[in-house]
Amino acid sequence: MAAVLDRILLVHEEPLQTLEDYLAIGGFRALKKALAMKPLEVIAEIKKANLRGRGGAGFPTGIKWAGVRAQEIDDHGMPAKRYLVCNSSEGEPGTYKDRYLIGKNPYTLLEGMAIASYAIGTVNAIICIKEVFKKEIAILKRAIKECQEAGYLGENVLGSGNTLPIEIAFGPDSYLLGEDRAMLEVIEGKPAWPRAKGIIPVYYGLWGQPTSVNNVETLSTVPHIIEKGADWFKSIGTADTPGTMIFTLVGDVNRPGMYELPMGTSLKTLIEEYGGGARADRHIQAVFSGPTNAVIPASKIDTPLDFKSMREIPSGLGSGGFIVYDNTACILKAGLNFSRFLAIESCGQCTSCKTGTGRITRKLELLEQGTGTFLDVMSILEECQHLKGSGRCFLVTEETIEIGSIFYQFPEMIAEHIEFGCLKERPLPLPKIKDFDEATHTFIFDEAYYDRSFIEGRRINYPA
Ligand SMILES: Cc1cc2nc3c(=O)[nH]c(=O)nc-3n(C[C@H](O)[C@H](O)[C@H](O)COP(=O)(O)O)c2cc1C
Ligand code: SF4
Repeated sequence: MAAVLDRILLVHEEPLQTLEDYLAIGGFRALKKALAMKPLEVIAEIKKANLRGRGGAGFPTGIKWAGVRAQEIDDHGMPAKRYLVCNSSEGEPGTYKDRYLIGKNPYTLLEGMAIASYAIGTVNAIICIKEVFKKEIAILKRAIKECQEAGYLGENVLGSGNTLPIEIAFGPDSYLLGEDRAMLEVIEGKPAWPRAKGIIPVYYGLWGQPTSVNNVETLSTVPHIIEKGADWFKSIGTADTPGTMIFTLVGDVNRPGMYELPMGTSLKTLIEEYGGGARADRHIQAVFSGPTNAVIPASKIDTPLDFKSMREIPSGLGSGGFIVYDNTACILKAGLNFSRFLAIESCGQCTSCKTGTGRITRKLELLEQGTGTFLDVMSILEECQHLKGSGRCFLVTEETIEIGSIFYQFPEMIAEHIEFGCLKERPLPLPKIKDFDEATHTFIFDEAYYDRSFIEGRRINYPA
């Protein structure tokens, strides 16, 4: 199997089919090494590597683990039972990296989870995944079984006396499943509704016990750090964000696809060198890193891809999913898509969020249709100011950042919509990815999303 040297996670082009394949390329060497270290030494190495979570927020993984490890008693004064939860929800439009990684190599994730469980001292580790991800569930089930049978997971792992089980929990096809506190609710058998602000999983997580929730890519990176060391990891990427990331590149480029690159590579390199740039006679107009962050105008595509640089422009790295739009796309329509998505996904626990996302969506629709006025624009901007930070979770703030930034970056386009409505006929599907055809570099979007949400009763709360 030919290896690609500048990558960490997607080193082999062909998917690993069996545990034997994984062992042949040095699989589980890192777990063996970790088991010979003290748990706190493992955590110290991850801290030293400055591994930052790949699920969106970029929180330092070692600090999270140390926080969970430090909890000796629960809030009833009983000995704490610590948990590890792997966030395999991947519900954000424009992102596919976790499913891609599982499809290429589920074993590194399992090894990373075993190392994390040992370091944190967990009683159980759970992969929480959407039940609609049938292909990835089958891959994970088979890999877990193989690893258990071969003694790499389960009881007395590698004769060390450590019990490191991994289970799978299934969740609904909802964006909020990925919100860490909503995910814990789902594992406990409840709807995907985020817990109140201030309830931090590190202290009060699954069943009220200290819990580390980590993303698939974060955990898959762990074995490489343990095997090759924190200094090696820090020699890749930037000081702010060492390592690599698997970027999902969707939209108006010649070669959409999945690209693992060192952190600090510019967005322009990702789009032009890897994605083949804009199509003939067109130019890039704007890029979205999911519905979470401010829109990136073409003038900022030189920005290095790391958490700090992306925050400074100001936008965000998010989970590394980039949706590119060229000059034939209507950016208001793109924003309307995200707004509709967030309004549907809003769980409704916070009135400000459910009604606010609905009101903004409605006004964006009016602007798109050509019946919106200057007053609608003003009220969207006011709404964005008032709603920011208001709900239990970040979803409502995402709406305000995304839509507010479109109005700020593209004022002429907004003025044009007040006067004429949308002049760009081109339809824009919501880039909620269902699958990826590697041979043709084609993403398959979930085209039935809006209809299905309506049928399921997950609707936009339009103003009366
Ligand atoms: C609305 C919402 C959706 C999210 N969806 C995901 C997701 O699909 N996958 C993920 O790993 N993190 C998601 N997150 C972030 C998680 O809450 C959490 O920060 C993350 O799983 C922590 O893992 P990490 O430290 O490895 O990044 C989401 C957050 C919010 C507010
Ligand atoms: S902010 Fe929105 S999505 Fe988050 S808990 Fe409140 S209503 Fe639900």
